[in-house]
Amino acid sequence: MMLDIYNKVKKAIVGREQEIKSILAAMDAGKHILLEGPPGTSKSTLLRKIARKAKIPFYILEGNIDLTPAKLVGHFNPAKVMADNYQPEYFEKGPLTKAMEEGGILYIEEFNRMPADVSNVLITPMEEGEMTIPRYGLVKAVRPFTVIAAQNPYDDVGTVRVSRAFMDRICLIKMEYQDEEEERDIVRLRTGYENPQVINAAVKLVRKTREHPDIKLGASVRAAIDLVDIFASLTKLADQPDHNFQTAAHMALTNKIWLNEVTARNAEEIIDDIWDSLRVETKGLKGKASSPGLTAEGKEESDKREALQKKKMTVL
Ligand SMILES: Nc1ncnc2c1ncn2[C@@H]1O[C@H](COP(=O)(O)OP(=O)(O)OP(=O)(O)O)[C@@H](O)[C@H]1O
Ligand SMILES: [Mg+2]
Repeated sequence: MMLDIYNKVKKAIVGREQEIKSILAAMDAGKHILLEGPPGTSKSTLLRKIARKAKIPFYILEGNIDLTPAKLVGHFNPAKVMADNYQPEYFEKGPLTKAMEEGGILYIEEFNRMPADVSNVLITPMEEGEMTIPRYGLVKAVRPFTVIAAQNPYDDVGTVRVSRAFMDRICLIKMEYQDEEEERDIVRLRTGYENPQVINAAVKLVRKTREHPDIKLGASVRAAIDLVDIFASLTKLADQPDHNFQTAAHMALTNKIWLNEVTARNAEEIIDDIWDSLRVETKGLKGKASSPGLTAEGKEESDKREALQKKKMTVL
């Protein structure tokens, strides 16, 4: 059963074999998970696919300071209670209660932004598989109820220190950036765009932002996807590959990178610098953007990729 789910999820995702196995194994063993990774490293995509293929409910919640225990657990409908006193059926279940009763995944993004009194509510359900709600009753968790918290390791703005007690009850799975080839596959899969030069340049540009000294947190594959999508649309209006690429790069990347506080330069300047150096390396975007004029070898590679992509698309 688990192997069957693994195989189905694997077909719908580029790479990530070990991470899929680790998540499924934790769920199978009744453990709860902390996914630690920067933005855009497939955390949500992976979990949604796992829930879908395993045919279990998926509840998603964003951790922020406005989150309260009641938003997590649920609350009694005040109008009904006023009219007819407390009845269990007047309880409006929150995502934690639903995930427990239905054997689903409760996914909490930006977990480290949520107040400690809210994360403490999770401890007993995680540890005992049970939770008592006054006037509603005992909620028992159905397998494979799993709490999955996500946090960005570089996120230090507005975050709270997560309690030791919580950390002691959760297993860590790290989500690093994927390698260059996999990122190209992801961009191709998500955009459906065929020009390998453009895909290659977009992925290279984005990856360079992650190692630039003026940048604290570089862009994710999400930025490369946006860049290629915008580039493709700009090309429909004017066939100016270099100019379009630069415009698309500014639109897609500028607000997705976090600069170091000390740098005097702005994001656009840094993106232009990286693109200038890459242009030399990749020899620019030659020819018509819509028909890249591939070499025979490039064409063969592109055909192979196209076939691969079609295969992948059918399983999504
Ligand atoms: N391995 C992958 N296979 C297929 N698509 C991927 C993969 N990694 C990322 N993507 C795509 O990249 C985008 C970002 O991924 P996703 O939203 O899952 O990241 P995330 O880790 O949840 O990010 P955040 O922390 O910002 O919420 C999505 O469009 C997703 O489809
Ligand atoms: Mg996400």
